[in-house]
Amino acid sequence: MRIYDIISRKRDGFELTDEEIHFFIDGYVKDEIKDYHASALLMAIYLNGMSDREMVSLTLEMAKSGDMLDLSAIDGVTADKHSTGGVGDKTTLIVTPIVASLGIKVAKMSGRGLGHTGGTVDKLESVEGFNVALSPEEFISTVQKTGICVVGQTGNLAPADKKLYALRDATATVGCMPLIASSIMSKKLAAGSQCIVLDVKYGSGAFMKTKSDAEELSAKMVEIGKMAGRKMAAVISDMDTPLGKNIGNTLEIAEAVDTLRGKGSADLREVSLTLAGNLVALAKNIDYSQARSLCEKVLDDGSAYKKFLEFISAQGGNTEMITDTGKLPEAGIIHRVTAKESGYISNTDAEKIGSASVVLGAGRVNKEDSIDYTAGIILYKKTGDKIKAGDVIAEFHTNDEKGIAPAEKIFFDALTVSDEAPEKEELIYKVIR
Ligand code: URA
Repeated sequence: MRIYDIISRKRDGFELTDEEIHFFIDGYVKDEIKDYHASALLMAIYLNGMSDREMVSLTLEMAKSGDMLDLSAIDGVTADKHSTGGVGDKTTLIVTPIVASLGIKVAKMSGRGLGHTGGTVDKLESVEGFNVALSPEEFISTVQKTGICVVGQTGNLAPADKKLYALRDATATVGCMPLIASSIMSKKLAAGSQCIVLDVKYGSGAFMKTKSDAEELSAKMVEIGKMAGRKMAAVISDMDTPLGKNIGNTLEIAEAVDTLRGKGSADLREVSLTLAGNLVALAKNIDYSQARSLCEKVLDDGSAYKKFLEFISAQGGNTEMITDTGKLPEAGIIHRVTAKESGYISNTDAEKIGSASVVLGAGRVNKEDSIDYTAGIILYKKTGDKIKAGDVIAEFHTNDEKGIAPAEKIFFDALTVSDEAPEKEELIYKVIR
């Protein structure tokens, strides 16, 4: 078999066989297939698509390209959640303790932020002492003891995805449905949990810009997971507007803690409860409304907050920063942003708000960039709110004075102010089970 022939078959619109897909992934991980060949094949896939059979075959090959975690030593049902990425999306910090306080074991690998989107690993590392770099043995024993463990992606989990994702990023082949589905699901399958809930975002701040693309991606990922023997659900939710009001690492920890203490924003609480309810329904084999009531109960009676403190402590985090979020480190400069005109905010472009927070220091442009955990934005007004010229509508937190003017320009580009109140967008579009 030759990679040249595989590329030309895909270029000419033929379906690849399982053997050809195995040959490609195996050879690429072993560095026997070069980046220029892999790039050409990715572009042929981007242009010609893949059948469902090819996509499942690619996912399984990528999942098997490194370690497949064996979670069988953990007592009880194991659960994982994954978001396709957004702005202000701190739901993992709320969903995982809700689910764990109902006796389900959450074994989760998370990513770092990249571009305009944030990542759970960065948020957790903004709590002094929190360790995301545990060995597979420590990971399993922490899940067993505490009911939750969240770590960064280990070096050898789905290495094919790691290499291919970097190549896709450099060759304009990220936005391709079968490649996104196989990338996400290969990591989820390798991470080993029995029940998986996917939070698939659509809108300006998401990879999928439309509801129909988000729906198609969700259906593909749910199908792949089911074929691999996992219990699956996908929640399709809005990411036209940032979720909650805080964007940035320590700021998002503080907002998640507020939500766990019953004081969070309504949209953040709703998305978190929908995700948790679906995960609990899968894990306990009960219907969603029953699962959702259980989740509301442990959120409202403080059990989930208590579980969150146990989780932070088990991974070395300083819980004083959680019991008193005023002890989280704070940026040196807090700049108040005032409205230039009066009216209703009819759009708060999530991608642009995410980009403004990156300019303030909260995110990275390149993978190796360092970030300022204290930087970010607090939104006092969002889509649907009425504002008056001169009102304080947001706060910028930064340690870099030079970032304020460019961030403010991006911020105002993100806002549309109209005379009429906008129609309310639904927060949860659909759940695919
Ligand atoms: N997230 C991933 O892990 N992979 C993709 O291809 C897109 C989003």
